Order: sequence, then C-alpha cells, then structure tokens
Amino acid sequence: MQLQGRRVLVTGASRGIGRELVNEFAAAGARVALVARSAPAIEKLAADVGGDAYPVDLCDASALDGVWSRIERDGDVDVLVNNAGVDMTGRFAASDAAAIDALLRINLIAPIELCRQALQTMLPRGRGHVVNVSSLAAMIPFPGLSSYGASKAGLSRFTAGLRAELRGTGVGTTLVELGGVRTQMVENTREYGPSRRAWERVEKLQLSVDLDADVVARSVVRAVQRDRPSVQLPRRARAYPWLAHAPWRITDMLLIGVDRHTDEQGDEP
Ligand SMILES: NC(=O)c1ccc[n+]([C@@H]2O[C@H](COP(=O)([O-])OP(=O)(O)OC[C@H]3O[C@@H](n4cnc5c(N)ncnc54)[C@H](OP(=O)(O)O)[C@@H]3O)[C@@H](O)[C@H]2O)c1
Repeated sequence: MQLQGRRVLVTGASRGIGRELVNEFAAAGARVALVARSAPAIEKLAADVGGDAYPVDLCDASALDGVWSRIERDGDVDVLVNNAGVDMTGRFAASDAAAIDALLRINLIAPIELCRQALQTMLPRGRGHVVNVSSLAAMIPFPGLSSYGASKAGLSRFTAGLRAELRGTGVGTTLVELGGVRTQMVENTREYGPSRRAWERVEKLQLSVDLDADVVARSVVRAVQRDRPSVQLPRRARAYPWLAHAPWRITDMLLIGVDRHTDEQGDEP
C-alpha cells in the first residue's frame, strides 16, 4: 500500500517499537493515530509528527468498545498496527490471576477485537491492511514467558487464519515475529534469571541478536508498502518461524481456492 496521505493507527505508541513505528509511518507520508495509556507521551509525539493522540487502556473492555469508530470520526483509517503488548516475565506458578487476565486482554483480545472493528469499515471499502506484532516466543518455549508465549502464539495463529479469510478482499495482513528488540520489555525479560539465561544461550549459539526498534519499524513499514505477509527478525532466527509455520504452509496450500463466500450469499451448502 502506498502510504502517502493514508491514515495509520498504531497501538502501544508511547515508547519502544510503537514510538519508532509512529516516526517511520509519518516519514513515509502517513498521518498517524497514536493509542496508548500514557496521554502526555502520545500527545507530545502526535504533535511532533502531525498526528492524533487517543489515550486508551486496551485492557478496559468498555474503552475498547467502539474505539475504531471514535478514531474514524477524525478520518478513515487505512492501516491498523496492533503493537501494544506486555510481558509479565516470571515464574508462572507465582503469577496472579489479574495479571494473567490483563496480559491476555492486551496481547490477544484487544488486537482481535480491533481487527474485528477495523474490518467493519475496511471490507466495504475493499482496502486496508492489518499488522499484528507477535514474537518468537510464540514458537520458542522461553522459561518465564509461558503466558506471554501463549498470548503471542494465539495472535500468530489468529493472523494466519485471518489472512486466509481475507484473500481477495483488498485487505492485507502482516504478521511480525520478533526476537529481542532493545526496549523496556526486553529489559524486563532479563530481570528473571531463567529467562535471562535462555537469552544468553541463544545469543551464545548465534541464533539471535538484539535489534534496535527503528530497524524493526522500518521493516514493518516496508512490509505494509509491499503487502508482505510476514516480517521475521532478526534474520538469523528465521529457522524458528520457518519450522513452526511449515504445517501452516501445507494447510494454506490445501485451502487455496476454497469458496469462502457462497454460504454468505445464501446459496445451498
Ligand atoms: N522488545 C522485544 O524484545 C519484543 C520482542 C518480541 C515482540 N515484541 C512485541 O513488540 C510489541 C512492542 O513491544 P515493546 O518492546 O516496544 O514494549 P514496550 O517498550 O514495553 O512498549 C509497550 C507499549 O504498549 C503499550 N501498552 C501497554 N499496556 C497497554 C494498555 N493496557 N493499553 C494500551 N497500551 C498499552 C505501552 O504504552 P502505555 O504504557 O503508555 O500504555 C507501550 O507503548 C509488543 O507487542 C511486544 O510483545 C517485543
């Protein structure tokens, strides 16, 4: 998708990867709608790039309800980037129920619900793009990241299904699967010993290396411009998603050409 003059919504825009996504989409000529809880941070960044700030707690179901329509009152949104996320690194048995609930809401339920709301306007327009930011933890059993990995595995699986469902509609999807990126989140994951040692091991084996958030953001913007289905970084870690997605590719091939619309048009099953 050509981004000049388009409107792009980025969640988790107050810092880290989201902040760099805002800068890169704006540099590509898009007007950016910034979503996060920290109002002062997104208001300042929106002012810097000529965008709009929408303070929203994605954990709060009532705040999420109708948020897409509220943001579209200021203009049609062409690209949704579900980037907001939390990690909750630590021993699962020591975690509390409220934190697990919040993690699943932010990392999985909110992105799915935002996709649902976005498609209400993207599909009739026959145009749009959805980016879901997932993690290599969706595939790699990192100690201390069980709930996080489960939420990201759900998001990756959801995005693959959505892509199949949207084929031929004019609405594209990009699944972003990341290893370590130098942000607050990666620091959090290294505060817990077993998780830190797992990182150290993959790095020692040269299977991963931390990236800067601006490098990730530039790759995501390029993927949207070129309608690429996936971004997997760092490059050296691509063996994980390649192996994990191999069965998906087989089922993708089996399902290409399946008529997905007949029932909706009222024909006999
Ligand atoms: N960094 C990594 O190594 C890494 C690796 C793989 C995948 N990822 C994924 O990349 C994405 C961005 O991560 P990051 O490293 O940039 O993390 P980060 O620096 O911790 O930033 C997280 C962002 O999410 C927002 N957020 C958190 N809770 C929210 C809520 N309840 N409502 C609305 N916004 C909320 C935060 O804004 P507020 O606090 O202002 O609300 C912040 O803007 C996440 O989905 C993460 O899982 C990161």
